[in-house]
Amino acid sequence: MKSKDENKIAVLLVLTKALDRETIPVHRLVLTATDGGRPSLTGTMELVISVVDANDNAPQFNQSVYKVQLPENTVPGTVFFQLTATDKDEGINREIYYAFSDGISAKIQDLFKIDEKLGEIRTVGELDFEDIQSYDLEIEARDKGTPPLSGHCSLVLEVVDVNDNAPEVWVTSLSVPVPEDASVGTVVALLSVSDRDSGANGRVRCWHFSVDLQKSNDGNIELELVLTKSLDRETIPVHRLVLTATDGGRPSLTGTMELVISVVDANDNAPQFNQSVYKVALPENATEGTLVTRVNATDADEGINSEVTYAVTNIIPPSGRDVISINAKTGEIRLTGALDFEEVSVFNFRIEARDQGTPSLSGHCKVVLEVLDVNDNTPEVSGSLLKPLLFHFPCK
Ligand SMILES: *[C@@H]1O[C@H](CO)[C@@H](O)[C@H](O)[C@H]1NC(C)=O
Repeated sequence: MKSKDENKIAVLLVLTKALDRETIPVHRLVLTATDGGRPSLTGTMELVISVVDANDNAPQFNQSVYKVQLPENTVPGTVFFQLTATDKDEGINREIYYAFSDGISAKIQDLFKIDEKLGEIRTVGELDFEDIQSYDLEIEARDKGTPPLSGHCSLVLEVVDVNDNAPEVWVTSLSVPVPEDASVGTVVALLSVSDRDSGANGRVRCWHFSVDLQKSNDGNIELELVLTKSLDRETIPVHRLVLTATDGGRPSLTGTMELVISVVDANDNAPQFNQSVYKVALPENATEGTLVTRVNATDADEGINSEVTYAVTNIIPPSGRDVISINAKTGEIRLTGALDFEEVSVFNFRIEARDQGTPSLSGHCKVVLEVLDVNDNTPEVSGSLLKPLLFHFPCK
């Protein structure tokens, strides 16, 4: 109270505590003045003091951390969370807009969008569990007061795996071509199978009759492709194996890979003549160079293992050596000398066909040459008859 003169007293109402509009927005005070008479008289006055809001409350989220799960195949544009922050202030001081906190990664800004006014959060890009399994979205709610105040929360988003990856099969090592004589148990290839999904979606089941399964540490499956039977290039020169891997997702996905395994020839087939005995008859006056016959052997192998050369290995009688010769390459047998029925009427030749493999293999056949008689001998006449003719001279 300040008194300026005796009749007037100025009363000053002074704040002794801070105001809080949010607790008491209007104060009603009754001012009573009492005089000193007996009985005393009183005058009153009511003071209504409304408190004008100041921006002294920050927006608040009802939790500091929210957890959400979203399947990785969520369609871009899906609203998956509704933010609600409250602010106890009034008017513009309680108007909130939502945003990512400063310093949030560009990746998150590319993938998610917040509606500034409504507080809806939607996806704008595709999620991929195999890439990132969870996101931490730091969010701010800011009011429009001067100066503005803000509250924060974080939204932990867990991406849920969906079976969107088929198992992959790849070759870690491959020893091809495989030699035909490779033994049973030989490891032809090492394969790896894996699935990028997790849980049942990434659990791989595999099949192939000639595959031995071995599980490795890192969850991938390592397969050894092992020979379980001996190979025969002459029957199957190239094996095409299809490896199929299926995961345990619902629905399951399948990955396949084709392996082409060619077999390299081994010299496991001997040359074979198309006849075991060739029978030929020639007149004894057949001229030198005459074709006796042509023998032919084939070899089921390949390349040098099937290249055949011919030779005569045995002749009965041995004098036949001067009578015929064989062309080592073509198998043509020709006369190289004169035949004489009166001397030898049948020759027996043993012919060998040998391939060029290592070691080489051979096959044999027989050629029987029959010599046919020709009237090449004049009858022998006695000298007593000829003499008169030989020594006859006509008389002059
Ligand atoms: C808390 O906030 C969340 C997210 O905005 C909302 O879904 C939920 O209903 C709120 N809880 C209460 C009790 O208000």
